[in-house]
Amino acid sequence: MDSNFLVVAIDGGAGTGKSTTASLLSKRLNFLHVDTGSHYRSVTKHLLDNEINLKMLDSYFDQNNILLTSKVDENRSHLAINGLVYASDLLRTAKINQAVSNCASNPKVRQLLLRYQREQIYVARSENKSGLVMEGRDIGTVIYPDADLKVFLVADQKVRESRRIKDGEVDQIASRDQLDSSRSIAPLKESGGSLRIDTSLLSVEEVYVTISKSLGFS
Ligand code: DC
Repeated sequence: MDSNFLVVAIDGGAGTGKSTTASLLSKRLNFLHVDTGSHYRSVTKHLLDNEINLKMLDSYFDQNNILLTSKVDENRSHLAINGLVYASDLLRTAKINQAVSNCASNPKVRQLLLRYQREQIYVARSENKSGLVMEGRDIGTVIYPDADLKVFLVADQKVRESRRIKDGEVDQIASRDQLDSSRSIAPLKESGGSLRIDTSLLSVEEVYVTISKSLGFS
């Protein structure tokens, strides 16, 4: 990859601190922040709103043109489905939390988003960013296996649950992680060569320092 432009892949289970970390990195280092969990949440919301269940999904995708575009707001890239960006509170409801893992295990959904996610590098460059930080479950293993830095975040179950409660969310993170780690396509798993960080007892600042040092910033 171009040495002047850095790609950082951050993977990990729910509540491990991916978004907080990616957000701080993007602000400090002028990177584009792409939260791929929000992509799966947006597709889930789109399907629920259109009353499409998983059995109808293949024919729905064959018969309907789903246009995916990006809207950049400061350091963040947001997915627009047929021109519509869903507000983040609409994507973090108990209903979406409950449905998103099943939707994300569908091959057509993953195929649709894979190309879109790989193209985010061009979005970042066109926005004159110094790099791209993409977070999710399969960024280091599938989307950007040759990223300049791959980070795998972990944290104690209790800490992760308390983070969700603090955010006011109803989220069964253990069952979501189980589904995300055991699916056949692009399961959540640590990519070889990842920097593994346990965020249970670390502040976001400490996580940031560890990552920025690995990127060569002091
Ligand atoms: O990061 P998150 O909790 O917002 O992600 C929501 C769901 O999306 C997660 O349970 C699994 C799925 N997901 C995925 O399968 N692959 C990704 N790269 C990101 C998220």
